[in-house]
Amino acid sequence: METTAFFIFLFFHLGFLILGFGSVLVTDLYGLLWVRDHVRFTQLISVSGVTQKFIWAGWIGMVAAGIPLAILKGEVDNLMIIKLFFVAIIGINGLLLHYLQKKVAIYKKGDHVPNLFMFRLIFSLFVSQLSWWSALLIGFLHRHVSTVINWPEIPWLVSGLILATLLVIWGAGELLFKAKESVNSN
Ligand code: HEM
Repeated sequence: METTAFFIFLFFHLGFLILGFGSVLVTDLYGLLWVRDHVRFTQLISVSGVTQKFIWAGWIGMVAAGIPLAILKGEVDNLMIIKLFFVAIIGINGLLLHYLQKKVAIYKKGDHVPNLFMFRLIFSLFVSQLSWWSALLIGFLHRHVSTVINWPEIPWLVSGLILATLLVIWGAGELLFKAKESVNSN
C-alpha cells in the first residue's frame, strides 16, 4: 500500500485539500466578517465568486487523486463509506450553493434579503462545513490512527440517518420561513 505511487497521489490529495478547504475557510471568514459588518456585501459576493472556482477545483482534484489512492490501498472499510457519503454531499451541496450564489448577486446594498433565502444560504454553508470537516477527520484517522476502521457496523444506515436529519432540518426551515413570509405579506 505505501508505495511511491501511493505517496505521489497522497501528495496531490493533500495539495488539492489545501486549495479546496482553504478556499472554503476564506469564504466563510468573509461571511463572518460581513455578518459582523466589517466588509461590504458586494465584497463578500466578489470574493465568493472567485473562491467558489477554487473550491470546485480542490474537490475535483481530491476525488481524482482519491480514487487511485483507494485502489492502491485495496480496501474500502465502513468509515470510508461514510467519508464517501460526505464527499458526495459536498458535491451536491456545492451545486445548491452555486445556485444561491447566482441569486445573491441580484441583491444590492441596503436591499432586504428575505429570511427564507438567508436560511437556505446559512443551512447550505453549515452542510458544507459539516461535510468538509467530517471527510477531513476521517481521512486523518485512516492515515494516522488505523488504516482500516470497520466502524460503524452499518455505514449505509448511519449515512441514511445523517441525510434524513439534514433533510428534516431543511424541510422544517422551508415550511417555517415560507409560513412567516405569507403571514407578513397578508
Ligand atoms: C472532500 C473530499 C476529501 C477530503 C477532505 C479528504 C481528506 C483526506 C485526508 C485529510 C487524508 C489524510 C492525508 C494525510 O494525513 O496524509 C486523506 C487520505 C486518503 N483519502 Fe481522502 N479526502 C477526500 C476525498 C477522498 C476520496 C473521494 C477518496 C477515494 C475515492 C479518498 C481516499 C483517500 C485515501 C485512500 C487516503 C489514504 C488514507 C487511507 O484512507 O488509508 N479521499 N483524505
